[in-house]
Amino acid sequence: SEEVPDEVVALVREARRVVVLTGAGISAESGVPTFREVQTGLWERFSAEELATVEAYENDPALVWTWYRWRQALIAAVEPNAGHRALALWQQRLADVDGGWLAVSTQNVDDLHERAGADVLGHLHGRIAAHRCADCGEPDELPPPEFDGFTAPPEPVDPPFCTHCEEGLMRPDIVWFGEMLPASDFDASSAAIRAADLVLAVGTSGMVQPAASLPLLGLERGVPIIEVNPQETELTDLVDFAIRGPSGEVLPQLLQAAGIAGRR
Ligand code: APR
Ligand code: ZN
Repeated sequence: SEEVPDEVVALVREARRVVVLTGAGISAESGVPTFREVQTGLWERFSAEELATVEAYENDPALVWTWYRWRQALIAAVEPNAGHRALALWQQRLADVDGGWLAVSTQNVDDLHERAGADVLGHLHGRIAAHRCADCGEPDELPPPEFDGFTAPPEPVDPPFCTHCEEGLMRPDIVWFGEMLPASDFDASSAAIRAADLVLAVGTSGMVQPAASLPLLGLERGVPIIEVNPQETELTDLVDFAIRGPSGEVLPQLLQAAGIAGRR
């Protein structure tokens, strides 16, 4: 991947209050298909956008429920990558510095940041392993799905009934297109960016609002923003530095160059 400019290395080395906004790209190297990858088999006639809506769920709860349980199985079957691990290490290093911290705010519904050892300040679009009642809204815990994530999703099965009101059906606790983001996650992320001295946008196309506009809160305060993405994004024109490479390579390289990683 591209050489990292010295100014970026200095920003990373000097930063004490860091916010990292991540998107599907940081999990791509773990083998989690991004939202827009083609489905297979029985499911090829559906696009993710069609399935991730309240209408799709109300129209055919079994179809949407099974698709999410399949994605949950797929995520459980893959591992965090070096990009997730680099952020977890940087968070641990900053926790040892007086007044230092690193907050991760992600649009991803996977738990790969957590499984790499990082605390996550906000899951802006929810979590694939969380379910709630479509009627009373109560959270519902379920054992992980028994089928594997690698073959195409199985024949649709009906979602279980809510264990609280026993009338509503369970639904994924995911933010569907057109739905409101969890206010607490969004507010905490906004507050962190307002206090940050460095913001990174990693693996996000910056296409989906309002999550994508979070880094711009830093812009208003003149906080440096670094983008890590192999491609241009909606944010590219607004960031101070764009590093064109895969996060699984760039992030470890950044920490190494800044003397944060590699030191025992
Ligand atoms: N490292 C870094 N970035 C990568 C990598 C990689 N190895 N591979 C791909 N990318 C980048 C792509 O270039 C793209 O800009 O990741 C980005 C993925 O963009 P999207 O698929 O739009 O994902 P995201 O920005 O998280 O989408 C936001 O929209 O798909 C819905 O709700 C879903 O949370 C998601 C939201
Ligand atoms: Zn209920």
